[in-house]
Amino acid sequence: MGAGPASGEGPADGRVLIASNRGPVSFRLSDEGRLSATRGGGGLVSGLSAVANHPNALWVCAALGEADRAAARRAPGGRLGLDGTPGGSGVRMLDIPPTVFHRAYNSVANSTLWFVHHMLYDTPNQPHFGSAFSREWESFRTYNRAFAEALAEEAGPAAGPPIRAVVQDYHLSLVPRMLADLRPDVRIAHFAHTPWAPPAYYRMLPDEVGREVLEGVLGADHAGFLCQRWADAFLDCCAAVLGPEGARVDRERRQVDYQGHVTGIGVHPLGVDAGGLVSRAAAPDVRARAVALAEAAAGRKLILRIDRTELSKNIVRGLAAYRELLTTHPEWLGRVVHVAFAYPSRHDLPEYREYTASVQRLAGEISEEFGTEDWNPLILQVDDDYPRSLAAYRLADVLLVNPIRDGMNLVAKEGPILSDRGCALVLSREAGAAAELGADALLVNPFDVSGTAEALHAALQMTEPERKRRAESLARAASAMPPTRWFAEQLAALDRPGDR
Ligand code: G6P
Repeated sequence: MGAGPASGEGPADGRVLIASNRGPVSFRLSDEGRLSATRGGGGLVSGLSAVANHPNALWVCAALGEADRAAARRAPGGRLGLDGTPGGSGVRMLDIPPTVFHRAYNSVANSTLWFVHHMLYDTPNQPHFGSAFSREWESFRTYNRAFAEALAEEAGPAAGPPIRAVVQDYHLSLVPRMLADLRPDVRIAHFAHTPWAPPAYYRMLPDEVGREVLEGVLGADHAGFLCQRWADAFLDCCAAVLGPEGARVDRERRQVDYQGHVTGIGVHPLGVDAGGLVSRAAAPDVRARAVALAEAAAGRKLILRIDRTELSKNIVRGLAAYRELLTTHPEWLGRVVHVAFAYPSRHDLPEYREYTASVQRLAGEISEEFGTEDWNPLILQVDDDYPRSLAAYRLADVLLVNPIRDGMNLVAKEGPILSDRGCALVLSREAGAAAELGADALLVNPFDVSGTAEALHAALQMTEPERKRRAESLARAASAMPPTRWFAEQLAALDRPGDR
């Protein structure tokens, strides 16, 4: 890992191409057919938005729905500004045929690769790799090829300063290999924003698919991960799946030699731009929401969680832990409010719709069981209101982040930075963030509901000075690697001879 930005690391030194499925902007179509742009969501977009604003950078992304397609078609060459202005220069949005996109994004990326890396399968029933999957996999290749071809084209002439392509996440795991074949002159990085599955789980994938994903990533000169654990799992998969004859895994030098091409392996733990976040959280819209939320809490302790409605986030067990807290520690009855903000995600997938329904069902049961005329124990909101989330961070006494498995989890990092009084963090040991925040958080096994309930109890009881001390130290760790530095490190790794 590089020590930080230095000469030769910035986009100023040559063309930088970013590629990800979700881009910095997406569109809505009104009933009158008018398009309006909104900011893309999720950790990946937050991380990259800070660095995409450079004249040498171009962000290649997919049109995610009909409104995006309409915007991409209206813009010459699919070119948009980062804010969605047609004809801008920061974004190229690919209009991939809807069936191909649906199979690649929903069936392969989100229902297969995401499930494998987060270990989400109910294995007696899923996965089921039959003939439908072969078709879906073929579409995944086509979708990856569309990105590789667009990147090859956008790279421009080979002469001149180095051209670097930074390819993001599991959706695009085949792109590095495909792009390297098309443009051997382009320096390629891949970054995984998810965990990586251990070999025993990874090998559920059909053999040729498991190989192709690894070979795809190994087409890159540098492969980055959010924490050491996921990097190690990747190396373990290379050794187990590609075999000692195929892949030479050198753990000391952190590299894999596959068929004569060397890929450097790096750990780049994405953090938060604390200054930017704090100033956004001081804006009037956030202050207004903080007032409303403080009124709802009415001086009671506030336990907060903020997630996408995402299976891996473990919202149901989190609510079950809160119920158990109220049962086993009745001294908290009437003295605490749990605020759960879960913004909608991936609702094309039935598992996600069912999961959201279970979250709502359990929340209803808790309110029914414990609520009184003057105390609402649980506020669950399933919608997206960014300023309201920032307001809640400021007021929280306890932040609950209990994913089954998570690449990093930026909520765990944002909370301590924004909390006015210093919040206690209850954190899953299976989140990548645990590597950096574990010492000052209360770590939990995400499957242990009783253990999580006890951790919530301990967090609520923590003394003010102790909470403050821990929150300060959490905030320091959370802002150690702001997105600009995280990105600069990946570019710098591409410039080091060992990684070429
Ligand atoms: C995770 C993934 C990102 C993804 C985000 C939101 O953070 O690593 O690649 O963009 O979730 O998910 P979505 O499917 O809505 O893009």
